[in-house]
Amino acid sequence: MTAKNKQPVYIHGYSKEEQDRLYRQAEFMEFLVYRDVNFSQIDNIVEVGCGVGAQTQILLRRFPHLKSTCIDINDSQLKVAKRHLQTLGYAKDRYIIHKMSAEKMTFSDSTFQGAFLCWILEHVPSPSRILSEVRRVLAPGANIYITEVMNFSFFLDPYCPAIWKFWMTLNDCQYDRGGDPFVGVKLGNFLRDTGFTDVHTKMLTLYVDKREPELREKVILHWQDLIMSAVDELVSQSRVTRDHVLAMKKEFKDILKNPNAILFDSFMQAQARVP
Ligand SMILES: C[S@@+](CC[C@H](N)C(=O)[O-])C[C@H]1O[C@@H](n2cnc3c(N)ncnc32)[C@H](O)[C@@H]1O
Repeated sequence: MTAKNKQPVYIHGYSKEEQDRLYRQAEFMEFLVYRDVNFSQIDNIVEVGCGVGAQTQILLRRFPHLKSTCIDINDSQLKVAKRHLQTLGYAKDRYIIHKMSAEKMTFSDSTFQGAFLCWILEHVPSPSRILSEVRRVLAPGANIYITEVMNFSFFLDPYCPAIWKFWMTLNDCQYDRGGDPFVGVKLGNFLRDTGFTDVHTKMLTLYVDKREPELREKVILHWQDLIMSAVDELVSQSRVTRDHVLAMKKEFKDILKNPNAILFDSFMQAQARVP
């Protein structure tokens, strides 16, 4: 069986800690992810792989006329999403949540005016299958926004070998399980192949150094949060040892104190239109 035939397991898991992390991640990255997202001219979107509703809450807040139909395959994520969105007054009556696979949606053709996908295609065996399906349920002229990782771009200075090795082991693990930690760079091809037009891609970059020490600290802590979320999975698979994790923690501690520290990471955002 090739890696691409396997059903991928969501590498960060569905624990309460991970669900809480998704809210922190969405809120922290909002300033970059939403810089050029514009749904102000439309009434409804489909949000594919909505998870715990961490992006939904932002979409509904930023676009007060928008209604979102949110889908995800995981019950536990959807339960948390429902509970959370219910607490937000501004979200009342503006979202519908369905348990559904993005590979085979039950919506009719041309149902939605827009689509939003964030950090989902890296976890699926066939991004093209999902994008074809998204295209089917979008109306002519509808816009899609996809935000995805390019995990080869992560860099820390001074060099942190334990963190780097862990990061590449995490990428290997995701790849072996049928996901794609480098999928961001392929979005242009996928969108073209699945019949979208006006395909635009741009790199969004987190690049912090001593010029903005407070932001730098927040960004490094954000990365520590992300990387530590995969520790249990990689240790349980014997891909890394507990000693390695200790070495990695020490590197994080040191780099957080280092006045010359630099962190760089780019991810991709693609925008396209249904002809
Ligand atoms: C990293 S989470 C991101 C959630 C949300 N977009 C965010 O940014 O917080 C990825 C989500 O995609 C969902 N997912 C994975 N494969 C899916 C599929 N085939 N159909 C629908 N959802 C899927 C997972 O269950 C998970 O909740």
